[in-house]
Amino acid sequence: MSTLTISSAAKGSDVVTITTGDGKTHEYLNFWLRDNCTCPRCFSEATYQRLVDTYKIAEDVHPDQVATTANSLKIVWNDGHVSTFSSEWLQLHTKEYTAPSPKKEELYPERVLWTRATIANNKPTVPYEAVISGDHKQLLDNIHSYGFSFIHGVPVTAEATEEMCNKFLPIRHTHYGGFWDFTSDLSMKDTAYSDIEIPSHTDGTYWEYTPYLQLFHLLFHDGTGGETTVVDSFKCARDFKEEFPEEYKLLSEVEVECHSLGDVHLVQRKPVLIHDKNGELVQVSWNNSDRSTNYHLDNDTLKKLYSALRKWNTVINRPENVFWQQLVPGEILIFDNWRVFHARMGTTTGKRRMCGAYFDRDDFLSSLRRFNATSEEDLYKRST
Ligand SMILES: [Fe+2]
Ligand SMILES: [Zn+2]
Repeated sequence: MSTLTISSAAKGSDVVTITTGDGKTHEYLNFWLRDNCTCPRCFSEATYQRLVDTYKIAEDVHPDQVATTANSLKIVWNDGHVSTFSSEWLQLHTKEYTAPSPKKEELYPERVLWTRATIANNKPTVPYEAVISGDHKQLLDNIHSYGFSFIHGVPVTAEATEEMCNKFLPIRHTHYGGFWDFTSDLSMKDTAYSDIEIPSHTDGTYWEYTPYLQLFHLLFHDGTGGETTVVDSFKCARDFKEEFPEEYKLLSEVEVECHSLGDVHLVQRKPVLIHDKNGELVQVSWNNSDRSTNYHLDNDTLKKLYSALRKWNTVINRPENVFWQQLVPGEILIFDNWRVFHARMGTTTGKRRMCGAYFDRDDFLSSLRRFNATSEEDLYKRST
């Protein structure tokens, strides 16, 4: 990209036209220039926020005078306001001179789809000391790449775990509370609080905004059973799409209703396989226990849905896809609840105390980008 230098400028009723050193002309909408004035009354360099009240600017605002130097454009507007744009700023906002905006997604480490075999000898793990001291890069990268991470060497108390959570990201508050701490207890009206086996699932299929990260710390267990499993549902979805394309399409389109009832009444309808507007899989929403009757669907759709769900259930339970481990005090499991299924195997005996928290996706991605960007300037360029 060559550097933009300004030779001259001409005012117009709709646009300001500048001629650059290479003889090319570029038009900038009057209102856009005024709305994006870089003066300290209109834009805060400290917070990168617009200060001007856009809707107090006359719709037909236009320059009374324009003046240029090689590296600035000065405009005296018909309402008396004066704007000065640097050539660097104009360069950043003139397509012929600007490399395409760097993408936010370039800051994310590559996603690695895994099987039990690939993860068993290479468990994503970070030390507690890094997390508590504020060095979260490896943890964030692990979660983005593999969908989960262990944190080892954690003090075995709820207080220390909560302190570490607060150091990491804002805890998501729900009707279950914020940071939670429970022993096996059936009074909570949810199988998560019981001692029975729980098949692979994601939490919060009944929320519009499903919690993104979930963190578990087993503080105490004096019995047997209750191994935790994790499954890479995105890897399963890739296999499922190859083997059963029709069923993949169906599970991407048919909205399945899920609910939570008891002290609350939370209900959502969404497909099992959720894609963004570019067709990328972004979330798998799967909890057979919380799926309601789905009486709203006609019999033909129900029949196809059951057939697709049965195949999906087979794929996600293939032993090659299931990594399992007995959680132990001092070792935290944190995972992407939009991607990685969790489950509890077998019947658990004895007293079991767990604590943990949910975190939201916005906060995770924000932190991931901040740790992987070179500067605030770098981030600013990625949010045009
Ligand atoms: Fe769960
Ligand atoms: Zn201004």
